[in-house]
Amino acid sequence: MKNLKKIRKAVIPVAGLGTRFLPMTKAMPKEMLPLVDKPVIQYIVEELVAAGIEEVIIVTSANKRAIEDHFDRNFELEYRLQKDGKRELLDEVRKIQNLARFAFVRQQEPLGNGHALLQAKLLIGNEPFAFAYGDDILEGKVPAIKQMLEVYEEYGTTTIGVVKVDDEGTRNYGIIKAEKISAKVSRVVGTIEKPGPEAAPSHWANPGRYIFTPSIFTALEKIRPGKGGEIWVADAVSHLLKTEPIYARELECEYFDCGNKLGYLKAVLHHAVKHDHYGKEIKVYLKSIT
Ligand code: UTP
Repeated sequence: MKNLKKIRKAVIPVAGLGTRFLPMTKAMPKEMLPLVDKPVIQYIVEELVAAGIEEVIIVTSANKRAIEDHFDRNFELEYRLQKDGKRELLDEVRKIQNLARFAFVRQQEPLGNGHALLQAKLLIGNEPFAFAYGDDILEGKVPAIKQMLEVYEEYGTTTIGVVKVDDEGTRNYGIIKAEKISAKVSRVVGTIEKPGPEAAPSHWANPGRYIFTPSIFTALEKIRPGKGGEIWVADAVSHLLKTEPIYARELECEYFDCGNKLGYLKAVLHHAVKHDHYGKEIKVYLKSIT
């Protein structure tokens, strides 16, 4: 398909309460949990940037200030590192604020991930954009959002990323019903929230990655609050299915749900074992304790 608007912007919502990760999330954002030496949200921003995103809009809240600070300049730290001749660390620190142009908008109450996305409507305007949860890490040779952009460029419509989950995963994630149209692409027929293995129409789940057209905002404004009285992106996607075709891209990625304790611990171990400097020692240590 030709004449599509280039996707330059992405939205990351981070204003959720993180109840699955309490008590850690009482005062600290789960998106700032470290994987070795970088917070989870930095991995997500880096994935978006590697896919060509230039502007990142972060939907935040009052107790998530650390996220704004992480992507802002820290003058005092830069001054000290420069003075002490710590060039490598200085470059590492400076790189973060220069990854993209950052904009922050507040969600005043945690009324759901869909409500969070609505807060970015004015900053997005009338153009398609990427949407990525602040706690889901996807790692592949090709960035997840880039794999999805290839589908968007072909069909010019809403595209969902999906990963294969086991029976347990069907209890924890939104599952899609879809008709396969090529090796890695399906046309979505429906979505079901956490159906469980008996009712699940497939084992393909959405790990918080979307390419949206601006019509998602119309859908979000039309739907009523769903489960828990919250406005859900998943409900808006179901609504959108009535008016526009939606495609799913099977992501060739490893998925870490860092919003729950077990998923985060797996991500920590994965990154520790694979680490250039610490990996070898960590493997020996793990052997010694298992
Ligand atoms: P989650 O479904 O993980 O919700 O949100 P949560 O509230 O953060 O976590 P739990 O379920 O209470 O443990 C997916 C993404 O949407 C954001 C979250 O910060 C996360 O990145 N979100 C969720 C908001 O920005 N606002 C909300 O009201 C809800």
